[in-house]
Amino acid sequence: MKTLILDGSPPGDPMGERIAAALSSILASGGHDVERIVIRDRKIGNCSGCFQCWLKSPGICSLDDDNREISRKVIACDLLVNLTPVTFGVYSPELKRMVDHLISNISPFFHSVHGETHHRQRYDSYPDLLTIGWLDRADADSEAIFRHLAYRNSINFYAKRSASAILYTGQGDSEVAASMKALVSSLDSTPVPIPALPVFSTSSDKRRSVRRAVLLIGSPRMGKSSSAALGGYLFDRLETLGIETERFFLYQMTGDAGKEALMQAAIDRADLTILAFPLYIDSIPAPVLSVMRNISDHRQSVPSSGRFAAIANCGFIEASQNENALAACARFARASGFDWVGSISIGGGEGLVQRTPLEGRGGPLIPVKRSLDLVAAALSAGNAIPEDARKQLSKPFIPAWLYRIAGSMGWKKQARRNGTEKRLNDRPYQPAA
Ligand SMILES: Cc1cc2nc3c(=O)[nH]c(=O)nc-3n(C[C@H](O)[C@H](O)[C@H](O)COP(=O)(O)O)c2cc1C
Repeated sequence: MKTLILDGSPPGDPMGERIAAALSSILASGGHDVERIVIRDRKIGNCSGCFQCWLKSPGICSLDDDNREISRKVIACDLLVNLTPVTFGVYSPELKRMVDHLISNISPFFHSVHGETHHRQRYDSYPDLLTIGWLDRADADSEAIFRHLAYRNSINFYAKRSASAILYTGQGDSEVAASMKALVSSLDSTPVPIPALPVFSTSSDKRRSVRRAVLLIGSPRMGKSSSAALGGYLFDRLETLGIETERFFLYQMTGDAGKEALMQAAIDRADLTILAFPLYIDSIPAPVLSVMRNISDHRQSVPSSGRFAAIANCGFIEASQNENALAACARFARASGFDWVGSISIGGGEGLVQRTPLEGRGGPLIPVKRSLDLVAAALSAGNAIPEDARKQLSKPFIPAWLYRIAGSMGWKKQARRNGTEKRLNDRPYQPAA
């Protein structure tokens, strides 16, 4: 039996090493061959959202770095362990940078799992999954988001057995070892009920009108993304309502301290900040998480002010698949001294928005734009995102079965242009028999 531990610890955090040591000793005594990879020590670029790992070199990421070797090892192991500090309820940016690349290990084609759209398997089998997080202290909301994410990842990655655990940094080695023992044995027991997500209430304050708003665009496709199209339309409306706006592309912030400082200052000045991002592996893309962590750290030293909202769009038709990531945004808002004013969740963003500005477009975008107009009016008046508009925006624009057929045909059409139509189900990392 092979176990692969993906350790997403940030620099200077000893917890990953402590947990991995305890877990490795339990697994080794059960005959497992354990390998731990510290993700931050590896050369792994950010997923660029290009889908070339499906359409150009099926099963292999276009970035030739350590993500390829690790994706291969994931398919070859029996048990995968994701190890991470719980960050706003989700993974650390370090772990997430690798997890985002694991999209290459599944197929582009859609089908239904438990009545929801998911991608088909690329390989016959996938490892069991243990998801282990740690926190400085108990935090019911973050823990619920984390367990829900672990469960959702187990569906997308076809783990036959999965379990999750949360530890605290103050726990001694014997407590850590006991938790790991309990976790390993829980892999064999009946799965727990589906973890529920916490509900975050929104705040509104009509006495404080919005004069300045900042849009954070969290897609690697930058201006040519559905995130930019949705956020851009909303911000154009806010401008017509007399609000001063600024827009930032978060993928330009990575490694550029100057740009990031300008963005932080703009957020500090703003009455309203909105993050628009695509769903990546049931969660927030790694570089966006990284900027969120920096914003949160920065805001520990400035007085709490401003409101925060988020817009998520995902590839699957069910907008509900965004809910974990949006709960993490609400948790981030609380950790960073913002008032949470709600979220917008769009399903089938790839098919509905098509990475194109909404202005002048009709069909299924008409009710979307009408709802965004209502959202702009509410936010500018100091209110939260209205529930009616949220519900309307979350509605599927075509039946799920039709979206799955059309989506799968769309991938084939794109592959035909690359001459890869017959190779879409390739299994480059299939271990030799
Ligand atoms: C690495 C990666 C992971 C993804 N994971 C999911 C997912 O878990 N669920 C989902 O519905 N869509 C997923 N998608 C699809 C994107 O959310 C979808 O294509 C979205 O419309 C892209 O928006 P953008 O143009 O703003 O980047 C993923 C896409 C990529 C590239």
